[in-house]
Amino acid sequence: MRVVILGSGRGSNAEALLIARQKAQLGRAEIVQIFSDRENAGILAHGQAYGVPSAFLNPGPFKTKFDDDGEARYIEAIQNCRPDLIVLAGFMRILKPRFIDAFAGKIINLHPSLLPSFPGLDGIGQAWRRGVKITGCTVHYVTAEVDGGPIIDQAAVRIEKTDTLETLEARVHAAEHALLPAVVARLSMAGVK
Ligand code: GAR
Repeated sequence: MRVVILGSGRGSNAEALLIARQKAQLGRAEIVQIFSDRENAGILAHGQAYGVPSAFLNPGPFKTKFDDDGEARYIEAIQNCRPDLIVLAGFMRILKPRFIDAFAGKIINLHPSLLPSFPGLDGIGQAWRRGVKITGCTVHYVTAEVDGGPIIDQAAVRIEKTDTLETLEARVHAAEHALLPAVVARLSMAGVK
């Protein structure tokens, strides 16, 4: 199963996938390419460190969505990778139907809350401020509804009295680093198309 990862940030979840692959814990998944919409994103360095082609792709002038040219550039570059699965690992851009339809049923996203609670930006902070006792992370298929596609799997994280926002963030990220590789491995064994 050919996997393309898209990310905008430090890339700790892409790194978790790369480590899992190195340890032969990623089933039949092969990470063939990483793209970032930020030129100096940490995710690109992680990819390069593991010998995976990793490149900045210009998304266009907007901050949270593609313009038409940027969208076309991403669709073409990803199609050239012949992916079976596209993993959004901290890709902070809303995808429109043209992109989603080009890879129907093949795009999954990682989100740092137990969806449908706390979609959108800063899922961990939202849960923290709301005072819930249990939060976590979700991997779901991407549809045109932001953070609203079918849920594949989730991991729960209990918020302890001793937690600060920083310790909670660290525990949610640790849960993500276990959940995402496990889901990708499972999909690869199920022969996802
Ligand atoms: C992760 O916590 C992921 O759940 C979140 O961005 C972070 C990326 O971290 N994604 C979203 O909030 C998407 N709405 P990373 O760059 O270290 O993998």
